[in-house]
Amino acid sequence: MIILGINCFGHDSAASILIDGDIVFACEEERLSRKKHTGAVPLNSIRVGLQKTGLKWNEIDHITYSWNPTITYLSMPKFGIRFATKIPTLLREKKNFSMEENLGMLNYLQEIKKLPEILDGEFGTGKYKFHWLEHHLTHGASAFYPSGFENAAILTIDGAGEWSTMTFQEGKANKIKKIFSVNTPHSMGAVYQAVSRHLGFRFLEGPGKLMGLASYGNRDSDEYEKVKKIIHLKKDGGFKIDMSYFSYHYSRRTPVTSRFVNAFGPSVLDPGHWSQKELDLAAAIQRRTEDVFMNAAKSIQERTKQKNLVLAGGVALNSVANGRIAESGLFSEVFIQPAAGDSGTSAGGPLYLYHQKLGFKNPKKWRSSFLGPSYTEIEYEMELKARSIAFNILGDDDLYKRAAKNIVDGKIIAWFQDALEFGPRALGNRSFLASPFIAQMKDTLNQRVKFREDFRPFAAAILEEDAHRYLTHTEKNPYMLMVFSVNQEMRQVIPAVTHVDGTVRIQTVNQDENLKLYKLLVAIRELTGHGIVLNTSFNIKGEPIVCSPNNAVESFVGADVDVLYLGNFEVNK
Ligand SMILES: [Fe+2]
Repeated sequence: MIILGINCFGHDSAASILIDGDIVFACEEERLSRKKHTGAVPLNSIRVGLQKTGLKWNEIDHITYSWNPTITYLSMPKFGIRFATKIPTLLREKKNFSMEENLGMLNYLQEIKKLPEILDGEFGTGKYKFHWLEHHLTHGASAFYPSGFENAAILTIDGAGEWSTMTFQEGKANKIKKIFSVNTPHSMGAVYQAVSRHLGFRFLEGPGKLMGLASYGNRDSDEYEKVKKIIHLKKDGGFKIDMSYFSYHYSRRTPVTSRFVNAFGPSVLDPGHWSQKELDLAAAIQRRTEDVFMNAAKSIQERTKQKNLVLAGGVALNSVANGRIAESGLFSEVFIQPAAGDSGTSAGGPLYLYHQKLGFKNPKKWRSSFLGPSYTEIEYEMELKARSIAFNILGDDDLYKRAAKNIVDGKIIAWFQDALEFGPRALGNRSFLASPFIAQMKDTLNQRVKFREDFRPFAAAILEEDAHRYLTHTEKNPYMLMVFSVNQEMRQVIPAVTHVDGTVRIQTVNQDENLKLYKLLVAIRELTGHGIVLNTSFNIKGEPIVCSPNNAVESFVGADVDVLYLGNFEVNK
């Protein structure tokens, strides 16, 4: 049984292929098209996926799309009624309101419906059956089925699906049941996005940056007290937003209203120079997001009595909030797959169809995040020779020893190995690696290579068996989706990855998930006593993570990086 899953038209387009219940391929379209966060139909990913798996288009039995336009159509009368009740706000905010923009939603739905036609035009008419699936169910499926849990509570939270913005689901064996939802316009993802734009960040890029900035604000400020009154926690586990402060549901240009500006000050036009009040707003919205998470987690635990939790949706990329849930002890284990945002629904759709609708039992545990394109040694060599770049070919032992020595000596290395990661984080196959022990390494990396805002922390990859030596709370976290506190005595040891508030975003590494990164960490431990490395994505500013050897060599040549490891090929600058 072959199922192709597609996410597109919004942002973070992706395609995944499921063969007999196994996710064998998954790739974000931006990695191939080189257009960051692209919402285009993922034709490149589909093409590469078919190539990698050796499948032909007419062998595909089913195609899923992680959005059901019918649910949006059916929700429109409810939306209309809510819209009508907001007429006083709309009159007050009329300069932000565009009827054309709001009617654009109807055109958008028409566009979505053309997807099968577009696919047929590109690949020919197949034998497949097409399925429009509810967005949050595909999020839930993407987390539950690969979790390895027999049963689990499922919490999904994002900007918006067709109508829902947060759902509680329960997974039992091969079935998922939705038990509760919060619906648009009450959306934590949209509020977080709106505030990040108010603070001067760009759409889609903002939330991750806001999370880093929040650590510089006061979590107990007056701004938090104000935010608390705007985002009400409900006893049923949901939340309600005072929509007189926000206009994201009817205006793309201006996501907050004049009432928000009166309460928190004008929008930041010069990001990088925030006042304390603005930093406090960042801390306040982050803290309230954590409140919403915890309120939801407690409620879903009480409702389902499940021991384990899985999380998905764009807001589940908030690694600080995820860490709070894990630390709370409400659940024995928390699982989040690496593509927790919308790209992951391309894998969730096929999983939902296979297990829930077609009834196949025994979901398979997530085996690897390295589900994208991979390349051969011959392709590495051809790429280097085509550019007349000198290289050494290393044996395995030498590879790890030399890379470890370079890192410990303060060099920045580009590490390109095997298949591309699925999800927004570089997990050690397309990474820049550097020493976490050198305090100024964060600035050095920013000045020489990454050109990121200096308030943003860098993450660390760490040997899974050693994580307890560094962290106040130990939890398996292979996809860098949780933040934990660093032990007081270790903060001085790993200053380049310890954030201003004493936390670190970590990736725990074991031999099964990534043997090469594991061996490199062991080599670093042999030299220093610490199996830990600074791990950031292999890309230059504004570009997606590199995918091919061609992208890698191009970035390496253009960036001030000391050494490139392309498989076992070593290139020194
Ligand atoms: Fe989503």
